[in-house]
Amino acid sequence: MEHLWINGEFMPLSEGRLPVEDRATQFSDAIYEVIAAYEGVPILMKEHLDRWERSAAGLQMESPYSRETREHAIHELVRLCGQPRIMIYGQLTRGTAKRAHPFPKGVPANEFWYVRPLPHPNEQKYREGAACVTHPDERWARCWIKTTSLLANCLAKQYALDHGAFEAVLYTEDGTVTECTAANAYAVRDGTIHTYPAKPRILAGIKRELILRLAREEGIPVKEEPFSLDFLRSADELFISSTTLNALPVTTLDGKPVGEGKVGPIAQRIGERIAAFIAETTSRSGAAAQPGTA
Ligand SMILES: Cc1ncc(COP(=O)(O)O)c(C=O)c1O
Repeated sequence: MEHLWINGEFMPLSEGRLPVEDRATQFSDAIYEVIAAYEGVPILMKEHLDRWERSAAGLQMESPYSRETREHAIHELVRLCGQPRIMIYGQLTRGTAKRAHPFPKGVPANEFWYVRPLPHPNEQKYREGAACVTHPDERWARCWIKTTSLLANCLAKQYALDHGAFEAVLYTEDGTVTECTAANAYAVRDGTIHTYPAKPRILAGIKRELILRLAREEGIPVKEEPFSLDFLRSADELFISSTTLNALPVTTLDGKPVGEGKVGPIAQRIGERIAAFIAETTSRSGAAAQPGTA
């Protein structure tokens, strides 16, 4: 079920190897992507691969493999995995070279993709809403690049877990809310969805783009503007989103109820619209999905 494509070869994930002096192990000099596939169909694959290319360009990194090769490898991995819900993970590292900070010359990048079944969502968490805590955003200034340099994210996520929460909502030194450690964040007030704009301080999620489009289709006003921690604390509803979470309602923040402490109607509606979008995409594309159709 866990299959890997690495530098042009397919193998079981457990057999994949990268050298100790790969730039990813020593400098986190790598970008990555996570795509979900349902019923054999990768969702929003074009958007994810476009972001992959933007992230690679952001680090001046070039893959030896074409987009077509990448798409083919992904479809083949999804077929090999054969599960109804799949997580597809891809990574591009600058390559393997004697350790030195400057970019090595003439060294090919290493690219790999692997698949594993996505666990079933915890339905209770979606019904009751998750707990979040707030935490300083200690990341670098180029969060728009999806790099594997995620230590600040890991520390904040662990802080959340250690405080009985699922995620940490991050805020900058001036108290502006950016996003979560592995998800975008949304506050709903007076019927309007507020979220940080698609600027370098956040990773603009592929699910975020979809949510904003679906919200506008639903006639729900959207404001892509920075907002403060105080605003977050006085929101009627909160929810967070990512490729694998979709839209997860948040009903407690720092141990206090959000709004009425229940899943709100807007988070609920957005969740339904995403589920419908996935169902439509999979039924339209079928098991023989072609690259770029989803
Ligand atoms: C920091 C961060 N923000 C947002 C997201 C959501 O992005 P997407 O919707 O593309 O999964 C992620 C996903 O991993 C993330 O790591």
